[in-house]
Amino acid sequence: MRKLTYVVACSIDGFIGDPSGDGSAMFAFLDAEFLGFLKTEYPETIATHGRRALGCDDVANRRFDTIIQGRGSYDLALKEGITSPYAHLRQYVASRTLTESPDPQVEIVSDDPVGKVRELKAEEGELGIYLCGGSQLAGELFDEIDELVIKTYPVVYGAGMPMFGSDFAVTEFTLDGVRTFGNGVVVRTYSRKR
Ligand SMILES: NC(=O)c1ccc[n+]([C@@H]2O[C@H](COP(=O)([O-])OP(=O)(O)OC[C@H]3O[C@@H](n4cnc5c(N)ncnc54)[C@H](OP(=O)(O)O)[C@@H]3O)[C@@H](O)[C@H]2O)c1
Repeated sequence: MRKLTYVVACSIDGFIGDPSGDGSAMFAFLDAEFLGFLKTEYPETIATHGRRALGCDDVANRRFDTIIQGRGSYDLALKEGITSPYAHLRQYVASRTLTESPDPQVEIVSDDPVGKVRELKAEEGELGIYLCGGSQLAGELFDEIDELVIKTYPVVYGAGMPMFGSDFAVTEFTLDGVRTFGNGVVVRTYSRKR
């Protein structure tokens, strides 16, 4: 069974962006050491234009071959005129309002993203599915999430967009690894206890 992994950047207090979702205050921590780690360990999670800028656009996928994101997150790329932000992956965007895909490489999931994820997980293959976010879609897909990769930046927001737009429920995960970086960033990986 392929896994669904939510890879997300957040503040110390667990917000993925300001109240509107804007996470640009975290960009300051993308220094050479941390970008080197992302390029080596999670190259698929770097968007196509970023990979080009970093000179790693032809690096093979290590962990994921598919991405799913909500229309709110996809909008960030669309606003920059980018219709295929993760060209190295099979791309799915959950949306009820985008009736037609802006790009042949992007498939719109207009209803039942949970069902779509279950279908993708049942496919044969070594590589998994990267849940990019944002908050609302991660909340809706919460029960399907098998792994978490939490990139915590050394800032407190006080308020903002939560990691999961879902209801209160205590769910246990096992800590699989912790990496710390010179600039104070911490990356924790977890697996869901099933
Ligand atoms: N820090 C990080 O690592 C990180 C990562 C990703 C995103 N973000 C931030 O997250 C923000 C976006 O998060 P968000 O919570 O506002 O939006 P989102 O989860 O990205 O997208 C929400 C949209 O997904 C669609 N959707 C959700 N459930 C659906 C369902 N059951 N069926 C069909 N479509 C469904 C709807 O699109 P329609 O309205 O079109 O129907 C909904 O408006 C952005 O500002 C981005 O910066 C941060």
